This record gives sequence, structure tokens and C-alpha cells, in this order.
Amino acid sequence: MFITVEGGEGVGKSTNLAFIRQYLQENGHSVVDTREPGGTPLGEQIREILLDHRQNAMAVDTELLLMFAARAQHIAQVIKPALAEGKTVLCDRFTDATYAYQGGGRGVDMERIAALEEWVQGGLRPDLTLLLDLPVDVGLARAGQRSAPDRFEREAQEFFLRVRQAYLEQARREPRRYRVIDAAQPLEAVQGQLRQVLDGVFHA
Ligand SMILES: Nc1ncnc2c1ncn2[C@@H]1O[C@H](COP(=O)(O)OP(=O)(O)OP(=O)(O)O)[C@@H](O)[C@H]1O
Ligand SMILES: [Mg+2]
Repeated sequence: MFITVEGGEGVGKSTNLAFIRQYLQENGHSVVDTREPGGTPLGEQIREILLDHRQNAMAVDTELLLMFAARAQHIAQVIKPALAEGKTVLCDRFTDATYAYQGGGRGVDMERIAALEEWVQGGLRPDLTLLLDLPVDVGLARAGQRSAPDRFEREAQEFFLRVRQAYLEQARREPRRYRVIDAAQPLEAVQGQLRQVLDGVFHA
């Protein structure tokens, strides 16, 4: 299975990844956890460029293509081999983040992203996507306490409002793949809801 965790800044993706991995392992999955942009040595180098706040002249198409360049490497080197071995891949962000950030946030035509998705991924899509949803200001406040803002975290509030709306819109359009989690709750409650959702998927 290919499972992705999505959501805006500071919603708790990285925090909850270990919890989800443990749940999956307890349910007999051999789990490979990874992240985007990144997940390979080359991809992590691309990530550094993408997040570097000094790269303030980066054109939108450059950003978009770097995301998919890192993704092409990630798929070839990590995701496809793991799936071929019967492992479950658990990924912190994937192409839905491109639709949300470059599409919703930056205003790239969604069809252009879909064309790249088709080209780079062929038929590869997540089987399950857990969307952690949170009001933008709460997420930014959580993320802000963590480290200096990266190139994305320096965007204005409206950017993140569009990102959140784009995610929620995708979840509405693909209810079979998406599960939306209320990430505004205390961590224990978020994980309780995650457990419920995962029980629904794996023990229905
Ligand atoms: N439910 C919660 N309640 C309060 N704080 C939380 C909760 N979940 C996570 N946090 C805290 O919020 C901060 C951001 O969490 P985390 O880094 O997991 O978010 P993220 O979604 O991975 O962010 P990013 O998009 O920047 O990668 C961390 O300091 C984390 O401890
Ligand atoms: Mg994170």
C-alpha cells in the first residue's frame, strides 16, 4: 500500500508519522517511511534548494519542476522498489501537496500539474491519503515555534488559506482515497481519530 500524509504548515504531519507507522507495523505491514520533497540523497538536495529562503527569485515553473524532479527520483529509487517488495510506503507529503501549494497557493493551472503527474508517475497514486486539517493561523503558530521560517513559511496568510482550500477541495473530490483529520485537537485526540480512521480502513 501507498499511504500519504498531507496538510499545510505545522499541522502535525511529521509528529504523527511515527504513530501511523507503529499502527501499520502492529497490523503486519513492513513500513518504509519517507518524505517529499526529498526521500533520496538527490531529492534532499533539491529540497534544500526549494526551502532556501535566499532563493527568492525562483520562478513558479522552476519550483514546480524541481518538485517533480525530486519526485521522479523518489519514485525510481524508493517508492516503486518498496512497493514491488510488498512493503507499505508511508510518505510525508506527495503530489497532493503540489496541487495544494503550486496549484492552490501559487496559481499554477491544475491541468499542467496533472500532465506532469501523468508523465512522472504513470498510474502511481496513493491508496490512502490522511489529510491533517487545521486553521492556518494555528498551524503557522505551531510551525513558527519550531525553527526559522523557510521559503514557503515566509508566504502571506492568504497563500496558506488557498493551500488549505485546495486540500479540502481535493478531499471532497476524492472521498474514497482521502480521510480528513481534525488536527486542531490536542495530540492525543488527533491520534485517537487517526486510529479510528485507520481501523475503518484496515478492519472494516
Ligand atoms: N495536536 C497538536 N497540538 C499541539 N501541538 C502540536 C500538535 N501536533 C503537533 N504539534 C506541534 O506542532 C509543531 C509542528 O508539528 P509538525 O512539525 O509535526 O508539523 P508538520 O505538519 O510536519 O509541519 P511542516 O509542514 O512544517 O513539516 C511541532 O512543534 C509539534 O510538536
Ligand atoms: Mg513536517
